[in-house]
Amino acid sequence: MNYHIVTYGCQMNVHESEKIAGLLRGAGYTRESAIEDADIVVFNTCCIRENAENHAFGNIGALKKLKRQRKGMLIAVGGCMAQEEGKAALLVKKFPFIDIVFGTHNVAELPALIERKRREKKVVSLLADRAQTEDGAQPYRTSYPNAWVNITYGCNNFCTYCIVPYVRGREKSRSARNILEEVRALVQAGYREITLLGQNVNSYRDGEVRFPALLDAVASVEGNFRVRFMTSHPKDFSAELVSVMKRHDKICNLLHLPAQSGSDRILSLMNRRYTREQYLEKIAMLRSAIPEAEVTTDLIVGFPTETEEDFEATLSLVREADFSSAFTFIYSPRTGTKAAGMEGQIPEEVSKERIARLIAQVNENTRAKSERYVGRTIELLCEDYDEKKGLYLGRELLGRMGYFASGENCVGEFIRMRVTRANGVSLYGERL
Ligand code: 5AD
Ligand code: SF4
Repeated sequence: MNYHIVTYGCQMNVHESEKIAGLLRGAGYTRESAIEDADIVVFNTCCIRENAENHAFGNIGALKKLKRQRKGMLIAVGGCMAQEEGKAALLVKKFPFIDIVFGTHNVAELPALIERKRREKKVVSLLADRAQTEDGAQPYRTSYPNAWVNITYGCNNFCTYCIVPYVRGREKSRSARNILEEVRALVQAGYREITLLGQNVNSYRDGEVRFPALLDAVASVEGNFRVRFMTSHPKDFSAELVSVMKRHDKICNLLHLPAQSGSDRILSLMNRRYTREQYLEKIAMLRSAIPEAEVTTDLIVGFPTETEEDFEATLSLVREADFSSAFTFIYSPRTGTKAAGMEGQIPEEVSKERIARLIAQVNENTRAKSERYVGRTIELLCEDYDEKKGLYLGRELLGRMGYFASGENCVGEFIRMRVTRANGVSLYGERL
């Protein structure tokens, strides 16, 4: 018996799919890379924007024919879209060939649901929220030399555009002891980069242990590895955290700090609980302590009532904050969120025109920053081999991707590269 997992969405979902793979392997399944040859196909879905849902709908629909040819094939749909209010019912109605639907809070139950499916025609199992933070799943990792480690689940922030708090439940922190045990084991197993994951890592709390203390403890684990963390909410990003970042060479001086908008009026409508000025102050605080620190961000255009002036404030924020790169999104109304019911929804043509201008501004910044790398020597953690380019690739401490030729396989090694050329966000060079 074998499995094939299709993953949509963020890092959190990618890691969750590693856990699903671990659970299926525990139940005796092996990995199958061709979807048409799989005995069980698992869709791990995302619902953050409408296009994420449309992708999943399209690809699930495409399995109808396959399923007719291979009667024994099981199709399971889980993740954020499955957890969304009313979506499970819609999924099984639209795609009657789905066998199992599971949510974000009962991933660990999947092997049991597969068993149940042997006796029942269809199994739909969703929980209202997570009962505990330890799901007992041993992830089957395919991301060497990087390893993701969850530190929190869920979110309490209720930004008015965002569906995450509804599908991922209330914020819960894992115990610091469990996190540290996992990190130690990963480092011992040879992983070279640990990324701590949470919707808002800065609000981590296990009794007296807050995020800066946890990060300090993780970076104090013996061994040759790097530490990253994401995502940080600007309102909770603190001086204490900056001092921990400064203290440890192992912690990457790269901060992903979603700004969402540069306009105070829009930030307030989004319920972000900071102003443009406060956001810029947080970055200034980081850069005054660690001058080389890089900041990346998420930006949304076309939030309800966004005027040209509001949008220009976002454009100017990109210049002022000097982001090294940014994920840019067109606002997508999500049923059940506060913003979906707001007046002043922005026509798509306007949003499209704005996002094109925003991307051009972000790219200009990224390019200018990349150019400054030419001639420098950087240290990369080699992550993979790019077949198409015939080059190895790795990331430097500040998050930039570098490509180089190497006679020997060096995945998992720290290597030094002299940068000879920059192309957009990527750097090219010679291995030293
Ligand atoms: N529409 C567009 N973008 C969104 N994001 C979250 N919800 C929405 C939405 N409804 C973006 C935010 C967040 C990132 C993960 O996705 O920028 O930081
Ligand atoms: Fe969504 Fe805001 Fe929570 Fe991020 S902090 S997951 S944007 S509600």
